[in-house]
Amino acid sequence: MTEFRIKSHLPDIFRFRAGEESRYPYLRLDKNERGDGYPEGLIREIRDRISVDTINVYPEPEPLYIRLAEQSGLKKENFVLTTGADGAIKAAFEICDFARGASVIRLEPTFAMVDIYCQIFGVHAKIVQYVARNQAPPEIEVDQILNALDDSVSLVVLANPNSPTGTLISREDILKIVKAAAAFGSLVLVDETYFDFSGASVIDQVEEHSNLIVARSFSKGLGLAGLRIGYLAASKRTARACFAIKPMYEVNSISLLFAEALLERPECVGDYVRAIDESRGLIQKLAASVGVGFLNSQANFVYLETGEQTGRILEDAQAAGVLVRAGMGSAGYADWLRISLIPARSMEPFMKILRARLGKEV
Ligand SMILES: Cc1ncc(COP(=O)(O)O)c(C=O)c1O
Repeated sequence: MTEFRIKSHLPDIFRFRAGEESRYPYLRLDKNERGDGYPEGLIREIRDRISVDTINVYPEPEPLYIRLAEQSGLKKENFVLTTGADGAIKAAFEICDFARGASVIRLEPTFAMVDIYCQIFGVHAKIVQYVARNQAPPEIEVDQILNALDDSVSLVVLANPNSPTGTLISREDILKIVKAAAAFGSLVLVDETYFDFSGASVIDQVEEHSNLIVARSFSKGLGLAGLRIGYLAASKRTARACFAIKPMYEVNSISLLFAEALLERPECVGDYVRAIDESRGLIQKLAASVGVGFLNSQANFVYLETGEQTGRILEDAQAAGVLVRAGMGSAGYADWLRISLIPARSMEPFMKILRARLGKEV
């Protein structure tokens, strides 16, 4: 048989294929998506702006670049639109010059695609592990990241806040890493997918540090997960490298339409963050009233120490059409549930299960 000249390691990379069953009918508390909570009629209003031109004319992304520049104080040349924050992470890998023996520093656990991109690009991963703590969120040792830096490191990937740990690295520590990385010629990608909830960002630093790339998402606070749109911000020169490797059209017209319309209404995020904070408070109150552990996050999910009830709660949830997950990947916390927050009225069917299994009414 002829051996085609494809990269021989690619067919062996395991990629999860989604099942055939739709998640739409479920109450989805498993992937940190936006629940509901758009102002009445907003989606209809945006949908009404879809015309034949939206569909048969190639996309026109400039207005969104201008809006991103206006709202950030940066220039539009600092931005590149991508297919979600995921596309921004991939772009950072693509612009790296991975010479033989090159490595990437990544945290574990984190967003699954970081490991996949290490495999795709055939680059060695230096893993810095989050460490489980008793009744507290797992911890990352910033010195371990600094110590892992050397001439082999092309890229450091940090998610801030991270998922699934929900933890934040301080701005001071991020900038310490960025400066230390610069001395080795290493890029640092700071994935701010959950920025809408944490409010923490180093996007204002991209012109100061040309080795810094910030990734942002429209999937979480703005709720456009299905439209696959995000962006990266970097110094103009680094952004030019990312712009160079974009496809002819970086995002599609329907994604642009929704992204622009939602950015015109910042209250869409603010109101939503307040609504899910109410749910955060309710779960925390439930945890306190029944005496089980609660871990907050800097993002739109929390952890509840459901202990030996975990399996039964997962069964009840499945039977009631609720999707929810246990554990925190390699950081442990197997008998904790990770619960994506959505507005309280929509969470009620799941709260009912928790109350029934954990004890007291709240
Ligand atoms: C830490 C982190 N980064 C990136 C992503 C991908 O986000 P997007 O939908 O914008 O590609 C996710 C998705 O859940 C995530 O948790």
